[in-house]
Amino acid sequence: MFREAHKTSTFNLNSARDQRAARLGILGSGKGSNFRVLVEASRSGLPAYEPIIVLSDVADAGILKLADQFQMPSHFVAPGPFKTKMTEAIEQEMVAHLQAAKVDFIALAGFMRVIKEPLLKAFPGRILNIHPSLLPQFPGLAAWQQAYEAKVSETGCTVHLVDEGIDTGKILGQSRVPVLPNDTLETLHARIQEAEHELYPRIVNQFAEKLIAAKECKECEGNF
Ligand code: GRF
Repeated sequence: MFREAHKTSTFNLNSARDQRAARLGILGSGKGSNFRVLVEASRSGLPAYEPIIVLSDVADAGILKLADQFQMPSHFVAPGPFKTKMTEAIEQEMVAHLQAAKVDFIALAGFMRVIKEPLLKAFPGRILNIHPSLLPQFPGLAAWQQAYEAKVSETGCTVHLVDEGIDTGKILGQSRVPVLPNDTLETLHARIQEAEHELYPRIVNQFAEKLIAAKECKECEGNF
């Protein structure tokens, strides 16, 4: 389903933007707070990437409403019969949207399904994820809860490349977050999210700078 296609994107008005900015597609299932900071950072201080399109597997996800607010094209892609993965055809539908939008790389922002071959093959080494723990500790669901229940004194968040495994791809950056004695699950989760909001745009921008450099340097192409 095609939701919005705003031809007069406000991005064009941002004179600070690097004309070579790498085009970013974002996949999310939830409220989209990481998407929000990715957009805000790209519009203010981190111009190496430009969010272009949002895809969600949840029809009423906050991230789709936010995309509308930011006047950004977005699509709901019906997720099919499985709870934690997509069929090949559904992933292919996502690939088609992303390729039509000429996306260079992808950021998962609270996307709750496993990514498999059609997407991994279409964007090899170019899909990033943010995970709410210091990987390799606490992969999988509700990582902040896992950390809380394990009574560790420190946890954090990790930006990593997506591969076939669950939260196993190459680590690109991490931020440490203390677990305080009077923390509840909610206060700990909020502190981790605050760290995510600083870390994700910074690492996405660094990655975009490398993509731009590789584009401009033939010998470097093999790196991506
Ligand atoms: C984040 O906490 C991220 O670590 C995890 O999913 C959550 C998404 O939150 N992968 P939001 O939708 O960006 O607010």
